[in-house]
Amino acid sequence: MAKRQLKDKVIIITGASSGIGRATALALAREQARLVLVARRRELLDQLVEQIRSRGGSASALVLDLRLRENVEAMITATVGQFGRIDVLINNAGFGYYGSVENTPQSVVREIFDLNFEAPLVAAQRAIPIMRAQGGGHIVNISSVAGKRGLPFSGIYSSTKFALNGLSEALRLEVRSDNIDVTIVNPAGTESEFGQNIRRGDVALPFKPIGYIQPAEAVAESIVACLKSPKVEIYPYRKSRLFAWLNTIAPSLLDRIMLRVVRDRLSARVIEGTHPRIP
Ligand SMILES: NC(=O)c1ccc[n+]([C@@H]2O[C@H](COP(=O)([O-])OP(=O)(O)OC[C@H]3O[C@@H](n4cnc5c(N)ncnc54)[C@H](OP(=O)(O)O)[C@@H]3O)[C@@H](O)[C@H]2O)c1
Repeated sequence: MAKRQLKDKVIIITGASSGIGRATALALAREQARLVLVARRRELLDQLVEQIRSRGGSASALVLDLRLRENVEAMITATVGQFGRIDVLINNAGFGYYGSVENTPQSVVREIFDLNFEAPLVAAQRAIPIMRAQGGGHIVNISSVAGKRGLPFSGIYSSTKFALNGLSEALRLEVRSDNIDVTIVNPAGTESEFGQNIRRGDVALPFKPIGYIQPAEAVAESIVACLKSPKVEIYPYRKSRLFAWLNTIAPSLLDRIMLRVVRDRLSARVIEGTHPRIP
């Protein structure tokens, strides 16, 4: 099948001010897509828009906090108002939480699900009728290998990505006849601001990603390739597919391997009293 052209496609990228979102914006600008870049930090978005425009590309910024449902809806409304269509929606904005499952406060659970799960859900719900009316579209949900296997002290973050994967799998069948593709992207550890923006819970050690760390540009290139030739699920670091596969066929073996890798973190355990224990 012929590869899709991305020139002039209207593409929303959430979380475009840094990391994977920013790298994806720059990669898609090279494809001459028309970009709507969304995040909270205005200065970073404005700099990125300027950089893209100075190279002859098309981009505009929407400064929105996507933890709020009305802002997700405003993102869709503003894009349709400006361009009259949405060809691609890349749900990328997200943050991590580093803390034990036992002591994660309810407020953190609510907030991380608001951004990592509910924002992609609401964005998709609002974008689908528009994509259907225009004859098709593509929804890309940035998940994680942590959405394939729960990671210690990232259990709540992992849960948001598991939820996003379940949603994406169901959705892609529901909208197949509308010519709307739904892709799950499972990056491995990636160079970005993720580690410095992570919310710290009750773990004594600094956050340290597990395994290979890939450049954000590599993830961006995988996303661009997938927009040209849609796939249901991609692993930008190919070997991480083995991790998911091993968890499916031999989870207790993976437990033993992971226990070795994270032994220092587990033995550091939690900082007592950092958070109130949930009764
Ligand atoms: N880095 C990794 O190791 C890794 C691995 C697998 C999956 N991922 C996933 O990849 C995605 C991108 O993360 P990243 O690694 O590129 O991290 P990052 O550099 O921290 O980027 C996160 C982006 O989300 C935006 N964001 C955060 N809170 C927001 C909010 N309330 N409203 C709107 N935008 C918000 C941030 O912009 P503002 O702060 O300006 O709002 C930023 O642009 C996330 O979904 C993450 O879970 C990352």
